[in-house]
Amino acid sequence: MTYVDYAATGQEALSRIAQADDLETLERLRVAFLGKQGSISGLLKTLGSMTSEQRQSEGPKIHALREQVTSALAGRKAELEQAELEARLATETLDLSLPAPEARLGSVHPVSQVMDELAEIFADMGFAVATGPEIEDDWHNFTALNMPESHPARAMHDTFYFPDPADGGGRMLLRTHTSPVQVRTMVSQGAPVRIIAPGRVYRSDSDATHTPMFHQVEGLVIDRGIHLGHLKWTLETFLKAFFEREDIVLRLRPSYFPFTEPSVEADVGFAHENGRRVLGGSGDEPGHGWMELLGSGMVNRRVIEMSGLDPDEWQGFAFGVGVDRLAMLKYGMDDLRAFFDGDVRWLRHYGFSPFDQPTLSAGVGARA
Ligand code: PHE
Repeated sequence: MTYVDYAATGQEALSRIAQADDLETLERLRVAFLGKQGSISGLLKTLGSMTSEQRQSEGPKIHALREQVTSALAGRKAELEQAELEARLATETLDLSLPAPEARLGSVHPVSQVMDELAEIFADMGFAVATGPEIEDDWHNFTALNMPESHPARAMHDTFYFPDPADGGGRMLLRTHTSPVQVRTMVSQGAPVRIIAPGRVYRSDSDATHTPMFHQVEGLVIDRGIHLGHLKWTLETFLKAFFEREDIVLRLRPSYFPFTEPSVEADVGFAHENGRRVLGGSGDEPGHGWMELLGSGMVNRRVIEMSGLDPDEWQGFAFGVGVDRLAMLKYGMDDLRAFFDGDVRWLRHYGFSPFDQPTLSAGVGARA
């Protein structure tokens, strides 16, 4: 066995490590000492060919040497890294006067925007916002709205039905309109009532202007002595504020809904401007027309009764409008399906700034 001066070997290794002045040199030293072919790794291998006595005397020395070198390498590495960081901090300067990088902002979907506009307009007339479940039961969606089991009007509201696990014979459905919120509100809060109820509704329908899911806003006023004049004034005031035009003209046409009596369909007059329909003016003027906009009427006394109120004391009006349709008319989109495709280019183009909350004083429809 050749004599090895571990102390001298150690001294030399430590001084070379201390002199290494960059991380690359240090890494080369690590490989030279401790790598597979490294000198200290080589010493460790000699243990295999020693007698057990030699191994007892030499083993601890070799291991101590290896540990000494390992910790010297780690210490020097930390020093060099710190020095590198300090050097970088000394040269890197931060200019706080530069504009901050612009964060990508999302946009408010036109449906949400219009719902916010509606809430703002109706809040000014004393209406609260009410909500109801999208998974509705048969009673609230149909029966309590004067559409019993075999009523033919149910056929126009084809939707997705499934069994109600809580009630053996009962069934649940995706609500076909927001009108069940009328019933829910009267049942839960009694009278008087002044609410709008925006939300999603579902019907088995699909083309450029119909999607299986769409949005409606319901309006309901229940009080003493409410009559058709209140309905007409409310609709006119709402539509003028929403479309931001004083010249909106309404035409009320007799219609039929099982839950209102009498029922009226409200049409708005429009003109053709550059090939586009623009709301405003009477539809009877030359070149103008009437566009069907919403369904409404005086709440049927049977609905008031089924909702737990006395129809001889309380009466009122209700209306229902398509929110998507209002958005299309106001903001000029022509394909409803694009509303729900989630195409980010469409959203950027038609979306609204989240910082631009609609207010009556600043204009409910302020463009982003
Ligand atoms: N719920 C009706 C529909 O979806 C609209 C409506 C609401 C009509 C309230 C009258 C009163 O077609």
